Amino acid sequence: MRAAVLEEFGEPLVVQEVELAEPQAGEVLVRLIACGVCHTDLYTASGADPSGYAPTVLGHEGAGIVERVGPDVASLSPGDHVVTLFSPQCGECVHCLDPRTNLCLAIREQQNKGFLPDGTTRIARDGDGIRHFMGCSTFAEYTVMPEIALAKVSPEAPFEHACLFACGLSTGLGAAINTAAVQPGSTCAIFGAGMVGLGAVAGCRLQGAERIVCVDLSPDRLALARGQGATDVIDGGGDAVEEILEMTGGFGADYTFEATGNVAVMRQAVEAARMGWGLCTVAGVAGRGETLDIVPRLLITGRRVAGSSFGGVKGRDQVPALVERSMAGEIDVEPFISHRLGLDEVNRGFELMEAQDGIRSVIEFN
Ligand SMILES: NC(=O)c1ccc[n+]([C@@H]2O[C@H](COP(=O)([O-])OP(=O)(O)OC[C@H]3O[C@@H](n4cnc5c(N)ncnc54)[C@H](O)[C@@H]3O)[C@@H](O)[C@H]2O)c1
Ligand SMILES: [Zn+2]
Ligand SMILES: [Zn+2]
Repeated sequence: MRAAVLEEFGEPLVVQEVELAEPQAGEVLVRLIACGVCHTDLYTASGADPSGYAPTVLGHEGAGIVERVGPDVASLSPGDHVVTLFSPQCGECVHCLDPRTNLCLAIREQQNKGFLPDGTTRIARDGDGIRHFMGCSTFAEYTVMPEIALAKVSPEAPFEHACLFACGLSTGLGAAINTAAVQPGSTCAIFGAGMVGLGAVAGCRLQGAERIVCVDLSPDRLALARGQGATDVIDGGGDAVEEILEMTGGFGADYTFEATGNVAVMRQAVEAARMGWGLCTVAGVAGRGETLDIVPRLLITGRRVAGSSFGGVKGRDQVPALVERSMAGEIDVEPFISHRLGLDEVNRGFELMEAQDGIRSVIEFN
């Protein structure tokens, strides 16, 4: 099959022929149809991620069709439409059984090292293993993944929409729906209007928030935020905290969300949360070693801070439901897709992202 391989950190991906082995017990062979290009792919490709490894096939925002299943796979069959989950759901571990978290423990250790759960790879070149990225490796015509890391979605859902639910969009939606559990009638403030922040705007709207304030540096992105339900927008270049306090009678927002990865903005999101009960949900991934600075008095006077990984979404249960909501017209996915590329143009996807040109480039496979 053809796949985009990260050979050397800081170098463009090399699209080439590699070998893919048959799925083993508990594994599924998926033919990719669409795949989003995400910051995490670029972060690893650049070499900035200290836990990164190479060679590997990048990509983790995939949607496709089950081609074959290995032994002991009961919940998926050939022909099923699936979304890939870098955050799996085994349904059996202590975290899967607890409604308070989506951090499945089943395959973390091997996945973090770039292996399938049995500690080996299915991807190879001239007999040498190539590692699986985030358990997904979806910048490829096919991939082999654990059954527990695939969500079966409606066959009616367009693949190029479904793939966005594999990461950024579900992260933002889930931050509002699961982590914050925004109450109807409340006031929300979202810092950052990329895929994650725009998802959070949509999530706040779906939860029935009355006022949704979005902060970003880009007027184009703030226009997209209005399209997703933001009632007010603020230029992040000024004093956004001051403006949010003014808008809320000096109190702050009931719920704030951070979706930039910048620790100074995280601090702003805490400061813009309401005295008494304001909840700040942090979704952005900060740089290595960076810390979040909070004046403790803000916490004593009732503000709370929560972190959110993949929006607290238990993927196999919730991703299909979120995709259904988009098909029902509740989530407008089309504006998030700014470019459609072939696999050979994957490096162009990185360039567009670095230039902040659009929200998502989607790779389409023929
Ligand atoms: N928690 C998770 O599971 C998870 C999943 C995916 C992505 N992420 C992280 O979420 C963050 C956002 O991801 P994204 O894909 O939306 O990124 P993005 O780069 O597309 O969006 C970030 C936005 O923040 C804006 N911004 C930058 N500085 C700002 C400021 N001072 N004030 C207001 N806005 C500002 C930018 O203009 C941009 O629109 C990243 O850190 C990413 O790594 C987390
Ligand atoms: Zn991602
Ligand atoms: Zn689990």
